[in-house]
Amino acid sequence: MVEDCKKQSQHQSNSVCRSLRSFVIFTLFLVLFLCYYIVPIEFSASWALTVGLFLPEKISSQAINFSLKRVSAMSVESWKTLEPYYVAYPYKYNLVLNEPEKCQKENPFIVLIVPVNPSNKAARDAIRSTWGSQKLVGNKTVSTLFMLGLPTSEERETIQKDLLQESAKYRDLIQSDFWDSYKNLTIKTMVILEWLAGYCQYASYAMKIDSDVFLNVENLVNMLLSAPKHNYMSGLVARRGIVQRDPHSKWFIPKAVYDQPLYPPYTLGLGYVFSLDLPVKLVKTAQLIKAVYIEDVFLGLCMTHLGIALTDPPDGNLFSVFPVEYNRCRYSKIIATTTRSLRDQVEFWRDLLRPGPYC
Ligand SMILES: *[C@@H]1O[C@H](CO)[C@@H](O)[C@H](O)[C@H]1NC(C)=O
Ligand SMILES: *[C@@H]1O[C@H](CO)[C@@H](O)[C@H](O)[C@H]1NC(C)=O
Ligand SMILES: *[C@@H]1O[C@H](CO)[C@@H](O)[C@H](O)[C@H]1NC(C)=O
Repeated sequence: MVEDCKKQSQHQSNSVCRSLRSFVIFTLFLVLFLCYYIVPIEFSASWALTVGLFLPEKISSQAINFSLKRVSAMSVESWKTLEPYYVAYPYKYNLVLNEPEKCQKENPFIVLIVPVNPSNKAARDAIRSTWGSQKLVGNKTVSTLFMLGLPTSEERETIQKDLLQESAKYRDLIQSDFWDSYKNLTIKTMVILEWLAGYCQYASYAMKIDSDVFLNVENLVNMLLSAPKHNYMSGLVARRGIVQRDPHSKWFIPKAVYDQPLYPPYTLGLGYVFSLDLPVKLVKTAQLIKAVYIEDVFLGLCMTHLGIALTDPPDGNLFSVFPVEYNRCRYSKIIATTTRSLRDQVEFWRDLLRPGPYC
């Protein structure tokens, strides 16, 4: 650890200011000091402010260039390990399929946007036949849309042709021109926010909701009736989330991408709801923060930068990241839970609609 730091600092200092010996020595001591004392200290909010994540535009882009330079100066292998974690955002993505008038026409209270793989028509159909079909709660309109990237599989031409037909039939697809992959989910989320900012700014709320989630639309709308109208984001809030450093973990993040041991608070990706003033602010802030591929974490970083606190739902059981066992009474009281299969999603919905008391 210390050896590494020494090497790096000598390396950098030599190339940056060969003639300034005293500066080199000073830097060396400073870096050694940092290695000994600061790295092991537990993450705290005040540190987050000083370590480069939450700095103003100019400095933060310098910090990013600096870390890239540092890695390319080291071995080729470490460059390779960083590369898969590079997220191409911010970037100007375009829309391949769009519904520019959806919000104008439907004037929704809330827009539900479901990120889904282009080839996963089964999930879209399950949602269209269940919670996606609920267009009205009381006098509040609900609109549902799907967000897709470009298909990556061998059959992408066929898939794209099918998407055109599906889009003409249901008019609920938005597609952007990035490759649809797990590591590109942050791009998907950010394009959702860009789309909301551009085409849906008069709705009151929006929710990003995963395609394997069961949603009780009525309970969602009822919660929102008494929610704040501005600077509001809610869902299952993760606090003091530990950054995964095991390269085999699905959520592995190398230190070169994010060097703190803990994440700031963030709402889990299964479903988070927010007021429609936030997309513009989040899109702007995202230009200043180094993107991580874990989309919900990235929004947490942006919210922390904005200084906007996340709101816990009024009841801790409303959102569940683990599939809640089906029980009519229980499901009549939740808002969102992951499910084990599309079949479950459809069956639970049908059962909940059947007349008679819930509990
Ligand atoms: C960082 O790199 C980007 C892209 O290469 C460049 O546009 C920008 O000017 C650089 N910033 C600094 C501070 O060198
Ligand atoms: C919608 O419903 C609420 C309560 O159910 C009522 O107070 C409000 O006036 C209604 N708004 C419209 C436009 O009908
Ligand atoms: C993400 O999308 C961009 C833009 O299409 C592409 O260049 C990149 O390879 C994609 N990344 C992954 C991991 O699929």
